[in-house]
Amino acid sequence: MHSENIYILGIESSCDDTAASVIHNGKILSNIVANQSIHEEFGGVVPELASRAHQQNIVPVVHQALAKANITKEQLHAIAFTRGPGLMGSLLVGTSFAKSLAYGLDIPLIDVNHMQGHILAHFIDVEGYNKPPFPFLAMTISGGHTQIVKVKHYFDMEVIGETIDDAVGEAYDKSGKILGLGYPAGPEIDKRAQLGNPKAFKFTKPKVDGLNFSFSGLKTAILYFIQKETKANPNFIDEHLNDICASIQYTIIGILIDKLKLATKETGIKHIAIGGGVSANSGIRKALKDGEQKFGWTTYVPKFEFTTDNAAMIAIVGYLKYLDQDFSESNITASARLKI
Ligand code: KG4
Ligand code: ZN
Repeated sequence: MHSENIYILGIESSCDDTAASVIHNGKILSNIVANQSIHEEFGGVVPELASRAHQQNIVPVVHQALAKANITKEQLHAIAFTRGPGLMGSLLVGTSFAKSLAYGLDIPLIDVNHMQGHILAHFIDVEGYNKPPFPFLAMTISGGHTQIVKVKHYFDMEVIGETIDDAVGEAYDKSGKILGLGYPAGPEIDKRAQLGNPKAFKFTKPKVDGLNFSFSGLKTAILYFIQKETKANPNFIDEHLNDICASIQYTIIGILIDKLKLATKETGIKHIAIGGGVSANSGIRKALKDGEQKFGWTTYVPKFEFTTDNAAMIAIVGYLKYLDQDFSESNITASARLKI
């Protein structure tokens, strides 16, 4: 297979970001994301509004991705799209668009699992970033997912732990809501956490067997704590916001690192890669770096633009599948609960 000059368009529409990216071999030429600010006033993603916004955004976003890459659609070798998991209405927009475009151009269509995308984003060629060697452990932490995955090869992955309720990003966002912060609250809690005392308040960590996670109890603990404290002092949140954020972040990172320690012990694998929106978190990045000294880990954190939902991660998976000539059937459909 001659694989010198392959151009692939990646399309991502699983949640509330409409994204398109062009990859040339392993290198990203464009990575366009249209965020949907419409959800902010509702404090969370409204599925119906998300699908409608995808439909508005998809053509301009793809157009921009091609223009930025300085190629025409006739130069594309394949179209890769997110098949799932995600919101059905959102997935349908990207899936239908990708199918039509591939059909119109008479080129292969490649379905991509969004979670594999978060993991394989580490294989995008970026100067100054190393690619993890197989096998490695991947921890995907986002608003929709929290998983530890044993990655034996590009398409040979096994989920060895996952959340039994809320995702870690949800823990951030729901805590933020209790504190009256905007949506999504993760970045602001992170910012404030760096100014506060992580040991100011203590929240108990959930007891979950093995490598699984649970975050819903933490949210409830925070809610009761805030209710109790504001009853005694109505200004409690304002007076202690940075310390509260630091304490929440300290607890969440403690949970993630405990499970990673157990996963490395159980698998004997010490190469750890993270992905998903929460991997932007300064605390988790620092804790991973500390783990290199403390536990002999080698850690991999993707470039920021490839951590939150994006289409570059879909394009790289498309490229890897293209090399295997692993194409979709024309009757492929979106799958909201697609597994790795
Ligand atoms: O991967 P992503 O963009 O979308 C999903 O697939 O969910 O992740 C979004 C999540 C949100 O919950 C947001 O609060 C969280 O990532 N997030 C953060 C930070 N930046 C984004 N959480 C903690 N610290 C951050 N710096
Ligand atoms: Zn995601």
